[in-house]
Amino acid sequence: ARKLILDVDTGTDDAIAIMLAALHPSLELVGCTTVNGNTAVENCTDNTLRVLEHIGRPEIPVHQGMARPLVRWTFPTPRKEGDQSSRIHGPHLPLPKTSLKARSSGAVEFLIETYRAATDEIALVPVGPLSNIAAALALDPGFADRVPEVVIMGGSHGWGNVTAAAEFNIWADPEAAAMVFQAGFRKVTLVPLDATYQASLSHADSASFEALGTPAGHAASLFVKHRIAAYDAVQPLPGGGHAPIHDALAVASLIRPEVITTEFLHVDVETVGTLTVGRTVIDTQVRTEAFRRKAPNCHVAFGADRALFLSLLTEAFARRG
Ligand code: BDR
Ligand code: CA
Repeated sequence: ARKLILDVDTGTDDAIAIMLAALHPSLELVGCTTVNGNTAVENCTDNTLRVLEHIGRPEIPVHQGMARPLVRWTFPTPRKEGDQSSRIHGPHLPLPKTSLKARSSGAVEFLIETYRAATDEIALVPVGPLSNIAAALALDPGFADRVPEVVIMGGSHGWGNVTAAAEFNIWADPEAAAMVFQAGFRKVTLVPLDATYQASLSHADSASFEALGTPAGHAASLFVKHRIAAYDAVQPLPGGGHAPIHDALAVASLIRPEVITTEFLHVDVETVGTLTVGRTVIDTQVRTEAFRRKAPNCHVAFGADRALFLSLLTEAFARRG
């Protein structure tokens, strides 16, 4: 099984990603780290613990991370009722409360120590704002060299879901995201909105999860329904009645890389633009070596295989922890 650490700001799509990572037979979830994002970090931690308890994997360690972005003190906090960052996800998932607690060591410490001690490959999969990963880079100059592979859910090419130019995870901590793309990690894959919108799930998919008769199937069914209602109300996909499950697609690509189709390109993040802050600037121009602007640093997913994605989720959610 492929080992991974999932860095989450749990929300409903993070929750589905956690269940996929914790239950799919081809993956071994080493731990979850949490970060300020969809909701305050304490809520993200609580949501993560609720999910792990609900699916019978309470032993997976959870480490709480950054409560604020790296540079922008109030960005996107403080949150107001019903603002951008809480329109898709409420503060708490509709799962029973848990008495599980996060571990005493923080997320950044856990990340640094785990990769220092690792004898085999552990993929790092951030699916929230990149604050923890940037903090690890700042604290430990060897961090980028020790992580074999990073798979990020975030960004978009020429459009956005928070502003006209930016996707939420990158927009919520643009300086951190810029650090991550510039850090020189050995392999970085970006799963942007362009890919996740091609693997959206419908009410029929939600019903098929429920029919599995498992805790994960039930929760996934609930979250997909919730997401469809929120998307239909706020930013409907063509035709309505379906919603992207962004974060889970990034996890799925570790099981079967062909669930996404990628191009190897240069990616950086806008941090000073007045209209475009948080935009992933993706250079899609193909140029010969001599005329190249900047060397490719990222495998960017522009396509996704919806049927394969659904079958991987189904395989995982049929299982009990
Ligand atoms: C990303 O933003 C969050 O709301 C989701 O959990 C996902 O990680 C999509 O833009
Ligand atoms: Ca997320």
